[in-house]
Amino acid sequence: MTDVLIIGGGVIGLACGIELSLRGAAVTLLERHNCGNGASWAAAGMLAPGAETLTGELADLALQSLSLYPQWINQISKITGDSCGYQKCGILALQACPNSQWLNTEQLAEKQTGLSPELGGAYWLESEGQVDNRKLVPALVLAARSLQIKILEGVEVNRIATNNNQVTHLETSLGKMQSDRYLLATGAWTKSLLPLPISPRKGQMLSLHESDRTLQKIIYGDQIYLVPRGDGRIIVGATVEDVGFLPGNRAASVQHLLSRAISIYPAIANLPILDTWWGFRPYAPNELPLLGTSEYENLALAVGHYRNGILLAPITAQILANHLEKPK
Ligand code: FAD
Ligand code: GLY
Repeated sequence: MTDVLIIGGGVIGLACGIELSLRGAAVTLLERHNCGNGASWAAAGMLAPGAETLTGELADLALQSLSLYPQWINQISKITGDSCGYQKCGILALQACPNSQWLNTEQLAEKQTGLSPELGGAYWLESEGQVDNRKLVPALVLAARSLQIKILEGVEVNRIATNNNQVTHLETSLGKMQSDRYLLATGAWTKSLLPLPISPRKGQMLSLHESDRTLQKIIYGDQIYLVPRGDGRIIVGATVEDVGFLPGNRAASVQHLLSRAISIYPAIANLPILDTWWGFRPYAPNELPLLGTSEYENLALAVGHYRNGILLAPITAQILANHLEKPK
């Protein structure tokens, strides 16, 4: 029998599964579609506690996670041979943020050419950066499989069956499934299984291609960011909308993102658009993820990572592995 049954194959479920497996647990992971189809696919992949102006407990978690990133990526790349576009490229923030250095117009132009002269300076966050989340999730799947984690894709959990303060089994599209312990990592869709205060916040995004790769630093402004990938893509994001699971990109949203992006980095106006997409961030009250204890003794939670789940994956895996390791 499996020691831990994980529901949800996004970055959070996969990261927790890998850490548990490395600590000796037998892990099975259930994903209703393909792993990484949710927010973990849609994200910009910024590792940006300062630019996101995180404070309090969330900032502490995020900074710990940022410091775990190099060794976490190293661990994954030892198994998969892929460092997933992880780079400490630095972020230029257009609004004040903690632990940053102010750059005037000349200093800014030295750091990054091609920015609008109207900007008048920026805050430099040297230790922040990015990972390509669309490379990270497949690498996590590969790492998980090589650690003998059983990943069952196309399996939906329809109900968590409970008795008093225990989960007794899961009702799934494959039938009844049982385990010693359970981990809920279902992102924005959590409420369909348990009445927890997690709700979707839609984000619309687009990407362009800059063949000469002039943009090297992440630019983070008010309701806009530009994330240059190593292959010449520039990711532009993102809206934040409380519209449930309403799908699709809206012309006005794309126009808004593009006009803000062009006002910051004018070369955008002549770049080809590659793609537009959207995703659903798992919002939790006070933007703090629910990590660990649930009302059921053998069910742990790893949900509600909202805007920073890619960043928070390594620390979440540590916290949940510590929690689930304890004998029940
Ligand atoms: P998800 O990736 O959504 O995974 C949940 C999985 O659970 C899904 O695959 C789903 O199919 C599965 N599932 C749900 N219900 C069931 C069920 N009943 N049975 C079986 N499977 C189920 N974070 C950052 O750190 N940096 C960023 O720059 C960043 N940018 C973002 C930009 C956008 C537009 C969005 C939308 C998010 C962004 N985020 C960013 C946030 C980050 O993407 C999320 O916090 C993170 O991906 C959450 O991971 P997750 O595994 O909890 O959820
Ligand atoms: N962290 C960036 C976003 O959620 O849009």
